[in-house]
Amino acid sequence: MRKLKIADGIHMLTMNVEDILFEGMWELANGVTLNSYIVQGEKTAIIDGVIGWDGVPETLYKSLEEIDVDPQSIDYLIVNHMEPDHSGWISNFRKVKDDFTIICTDKAAKMVSSFYNEDKIRIVKEGDTLDLGEGKVLSFHPVPNVHWPDTMYTYESSTKTLFSCDMFGAFGRMGDHCFDDELTPEEIDFFESEGIRYYSNVMITFTPSVRKAIEKAKALDVKTIAPGHGPVYRANPQKIMDDYYRFAKYAEGSGKNEVTILWGSMYGMTSKAIEHAESILQKEGIKYNKLHMPIESESEMVATAFKSAGIIIAAPTYEYKLFPPVAAALNELGRKKILGKTAFRFGSYGWSGGAENELKEINERNKMKWDFIESVEFEGAPKEEDLKKVEEGVLELIKKMKEKVVE
Ligand code: FEO
Repeated sequence: MRKLKIADGIHMLTMNVEDILFEGMWELANGVTLNSYIVQGEKTAIIDGVIGWDGVPETLYKSLEEIDVDPQSIDYLIVNHMEPDHSGWISNFRKVKDDFTIICTDKAAKMVSSFYNEDKIRIVKEGDTLDLGEGKVLSFHPVPNVHWPDTMYTYESSTKTLFSCDMFGAFGRMGDHCFDDELTPEEIDFFESEGIRYYSNVMITFTPSVRKAIEKAKALDVKTIAPGHGPVYRANPQKIMDDYYRFAKYAEGSGKNEVTILWGSMYGMTSKAIEHAESILQKEGIKYNKLHMPIESESEMVATAFKSAGIIIAAPTYEYKLFPPVAAALNELGRKKILGKTAFRFGSYGWSGGAENELKEINERNKMKWDFIESVEFEGAPKEEDLKKVEEGVLELIKKMKEKVVE
């Protein structure tokens, strides 16, 4: 746990968490940070708690003291969002200090009550304020469904700091550099990439709400964005707003000038055609990412497909349907509402086809509206004429996806 100054009377508490399945399912290759914020006037508020304690009140007490925070000084706990990565410490904190008030939206209050049996709650609505004294005034701005219905921003007016919780967050552990103006070019790229992973794993299903939340942030006079995960943006908060705006476009079919090959092969027949497709992509100078299903992690698969303007589905027929690991991946992309991608499928079959029917069914059931180039299917190993068709399909994909490229 580290304590870093954001402004006079405002500090960030941050810790890296590794080796967890985020939301119980996302394998995080590069970990995640959990950030809380303390705002001190005459009264003190902590915005979004931090997990990582062992549940023993003395440990929690000691941890706060170690970073020079007197637990007894905390008057308000502001829950921007009830998900336990931000609120999981409430019950433990209640054991070391009883007289604090939780501040949250009505939807969060219901969950705070049902998850933690809490009732000392003040419910806030759009524009409500909390004056902490010494010039520190907080206001509250609900941004529902990013990604739970309970979410809100907290804004501190004297420093123009927006505490955005999950919005504008990123996965990825933080090293010594926690502010945007400290990040090296490599760290900027790292957090953009981890922002893509975060958005695609956690936020994407709620893209229309994310767009509204971006507009709400823009309408506030923001000098610093302090999210619940990832770096603080104090030099250029516009950058992370622009990134999120671009991510919202990726969710609707745009992407980087990259192709993701989502592939599986039982006995290497479809693989032969993949090798040919790769040679075409290389010749055309198109960056591509190969995702071998079911070996690739779900987190990586969703993030990589999400950011790519073009998708190649290379998978055979299996028991009259699409090769199951690839079908499962496509279903997940559909559930996540990754819409409108430009795509091309090819694959082998043994004694009958069937993969195409399931591909169509997945696309329609999930209302994915992917724009498919005509598929290429071949019996057994691909012959020369099959490889020629694969080549034509890849070239058409490259041409078509150009309309959707947003870097
Ligand atoms: Fe960072 Fe929705 O939890």
